[in-house]
Amino acid sequence: MTQPSRIWFITGISRGLGRALAEEVRAHGDLVVGTTRDGTSGLGAGVHAVPLDLSRPEAPAAAVRAAHAVHGRLDVVVNNAGYGLLGPIEETRDAEAAHLFEVNFFGALRVLQAALPLLRAQGSGHVVNISSIAALAPMAGSGLYAASKAALSALSESLAQELVGSGVRVTSVEPGAFRTDFLSEQSLRRTEMRLAAYEATSGEAVRALEKLIGQQGGDPRAAARALIQAVRAPEPPMHLVLGADAIGRTRARLERLGAEVTRWEEVSRATAFARPA
Ligand SMILES: NC(=O)c1ccc[n+]([C@@H]2O[C@H](COP(=O)([O-])OP(=O)(O)OC[C@H]3O[C@@H](n4cnc5c(N)ncnc54)[C@H](OP(=O)(O)O)[C@@H]3O)[C@@H](O)[C@H]2O)c1
Repeated sequence: MTQPSRIWFITGISRGLGRALAEEVRAHGDLVVGTTRDGTSGLGAGVHAVPLDLSRPEAPAAAVRAAHAVHGRLDVVVNNAGYGLLGPIEETRDAEAAHLFEVNFFGALRVLQAALPLLRAQGSGHVVNISSIAALAPMAGSGLYAASKAALSALSESLAQELVGSGVRVTSVEPGAFRTDFLSEQSLRRTEMRLAAYEATSGEAVRALEKLIGQQGGDPRAAARALIQAVRAPEPPMHLVLGADAIGRTRARLERLGAEVTRWEEVSRATAFARPA
């Protein structure tokens, strides 16, 4: 028996991972309602587009309503749209940090808050938040970006626990470097201020990222297929760490964290009251 098509709501299908996902979802026989800034996608049959600019607080709820109206349901909700900000933390102005969080975190939160009542009413659904390896293994030069994605990853874990028994699943995706526009001038922003003090740390990390443009090991189409596989799995992952680089960085981070917990365990445990309450 063939399965009925799932309806995927995907933010940011104009290019990059979002577009690759929309194309792969169609190739797998499911339907897409995706967002672009102007509400057109040029992707043909089976892909509807609705307008969304995540930096406008009222926009996500309207986009989710419009998307839901297309087929009368949403099965998979993918918070994909986002961008990177490079520059040392000390150099970052309030407005730069606020805009980043508005798009990468609050925009995604507003999408979820609009979509969750619909998914819970259906008794089924899958939320997929595209976070970043930066959330699990942050580096110099992209601290605010890492913070915005760490917030999204943490939110996903809490949400999964809140939704137990509702039929709605949650997956946080932490991709490594994928060959999209993400690192290009068209997508990436940089802090306006420049401080010489951070040249050796943040500056070096940013130069390494610049060298990565066009050389990223990750194929967005393969990422899209991995994501579809995860959504279709009987037991979808809570975290999907995508790419060999992301796996390496995650394992190294877990080792460092584990070693540090062990090194300071005695001091840490000694903070309890001498006598239990
Ligand atoms: N590629 C990587 O190496 C990588 C690694 C880790 C995580 N990620 C994450 O993966 C997601 C997709 O990135 P990508 O690699 O596909 O980058 P991309 O090629 O730059 O595509 C970004 C997408 O997000 C949309 N977008 C950005 N700001 C928006 C806003 N204010 N309102 C609505 N849409 C907005 C863009 O729309 P426009 O075309 O209209 O600008 C575009 O569709 C992002 O969340 C990113 O943080 C990417």
